[in-house]
Parts: sequence; structure tokens; C-alpha cells
Amino acid sequence: MKDKVVFISGSARGLGASLAEYFYHDNANVFCASRSGEKPKSLENTDPKRVSSGTLDICDYPSCEQAISQCLSIFGRIDILINNASGFFGRKKIGDYSPVELRSEIETTLLGAINLTNVFVERAALEEINQHIIFISSTSGLSREGGNELFPVYAAAKAGIIRFAECINASTREKGIYSHTLIPSNIREANLAYEAAVSRSDVFQAIKFLIEPSHNLYVDQIVLNPARVQKP
Ligand SMILES: NC(=O)c1ccc[n+]([C@@H]2O[C@H](COP(=O)([O-])OP(=O)(O)OC[C@H]3O[C@@H](n4cnc5c(N)ncnc54)[C@H](OP(=O)(O)O)[C@@H]3O)[C@@H](O)[C@H]2O)c1
Repeated sequence: MKDKVVFISGSARGLGASLAEYFYHDNANVFCASRSGEKPKSLENTDPKRVSSGTLDICDYPSCEQAISQCLSIFGRIDILINNASGFFGRKKIGDYSPVELRSEIETTLLGAINLTNVFVERAALEEINQHIIFISSTSGLSREGGNELFPVYAAAKAGIIRFAECINASTREKGIYSHTLIPSNIREANLAYEAAVSRSDVFQAIKFLIEPSHNLYVDQIVLNPARVQKP
């Protein structure tokens, strides 16, 4: 990953922070974008030439423009955009949401990634080299089974992410930008009850597989499920 520049949304904590760490230790340069503008704690004392950070609210289009521009002015390019930031407003059945919650869930989980992607393609496309957009969706966006009635708006937004990534494929590939969707089931570190869930390291390994330059094939989606099934 040497000399690659990775832009990660929502990277002050959670999966985004772990991905920033993994990419850093794999020799990439990392731009950590988050609402606080802070680097993940574990990367606080790293070389600013390798790890930089800036504020980003994915629901606010000018904020997306500002963060992408800031990354470009620091590193000169973006090789990999990771659309990680997302909202999850807890377990609620339809009828139990307030209008504000409905709007926030869709704006954060679906529109936010679309905002950032639009800015990236407009401002950061390099034409002569391959670039990648990684969308982090969820298996809740795939199925009408498995408890999705407890977070239907989140599930709909994650389904929207999958469709959006499929729809932009043709036009972005013309520019040498490959979009890929990772569709993980429960992530272990966020759901300690699920011992046999997917780990953050599994997500990183899957991203590496997607962007590996030696692949002759373009892999546009990966569904990540644990090898063993375990109920909490
Ligand atoms: N956890 C799981 O089991 C699981 C399973 C499948 C898929 N996923 C997906 O994996 C990704 C990461 O999950 P996670 O568990 O790390 O989630 P998380 O702990 O809830 O973190 C969400 C991240 O999104 C950021 N964010 C929220 N609203 C934002 C906004 N308006 N602008 C910018 N950033 C914003 C948060 O930043 P702040 O620090 O500012 O709040 C935080 O960094 C998400 O896309 C999630 O849907 C998670």
C-alpha cells in the first residue's frame, strides 16, 4: 500500500478508526475524516505526512467538498475512498420513528455516502490511474428476513447503498474508478455477544482483496459472513 492515499469517512472511532490503523500499518497514507476532525487515538502521535485528519459531516455537502479538498491539498491525490460513516438509530419498528429520526437515518446512512462520492468523482478523479470507492453496506440491506423489522429504515438505506454502487459502476469505470460494496454481517467488536461474527480485520482483508492490483477481474461486491453461525 506504499504511497497510496486512503480517505476514510467516520474514522475517529469504530470500524473507521480500525481501518485507518490497518492501512497505516500497511504503509498507506491516511486521511481520517470525522465530525470531530480528530485522528483515532492510536494514530494521534503519528507522522502528519502519513496520517492527517479533518472535519467532515457527510450530511452537509459543503463539508464533503471541504474535506475532499483538504485531503487533496495535503496528499495531492486520493486512491481509495472508503464510505464508512453511517447512522444507526437503534432498534425501532416502523411507526415508532419521529420525522427527524426518519430523515436523519436516510441522510446519514444513504445520502451521506452519495454526497461524498459525488464530490470525489467530480474533484479527485485522476483518469490515468486506477482508483477505488469502497461502500460499507450491511447484510441488513440484502434480505427481508433476519430481524430487519427492528431497523427497517437503516436496512432500506443500506439496500440503497448497494443499488447506488451498482448504478454508478459503468460511468465511474470509464474514468478508471472502481466502486465496490462490502456487505458485512455483524461485526464482532461492535457486537460482543456475537463471538463468531466478522471481525474488523476481516473487513480490512476484504478491502485489500478488492483493490489488489494483480487481480485480472473486477470484484464489485463481497458479502462477509462468519464461517460459523452463532446466536447471541
Ligand atoms: N457494527 C456492525 O455490526 C456493522 C455491521 C454491518 C455493517 N456495519 C457498517 O460498518 C460501518 C461502521 O460501523 P461501526 O460499527 O463502526 O459504526 P459506529 O460505531 O456507529 O460508527 C459510525 C461512524 O459514522 C460516523 N458518522 C455518523 N454520522 C456522521 C456524519 N453525519 N458525518 C460524518 N460521520 C458520521 C460516526 O462518527 P462520530 O464519531 O462523529 O459519531 C462514526 O465514526 C457503518 O457503515 C455500518 O453501517 C456495521
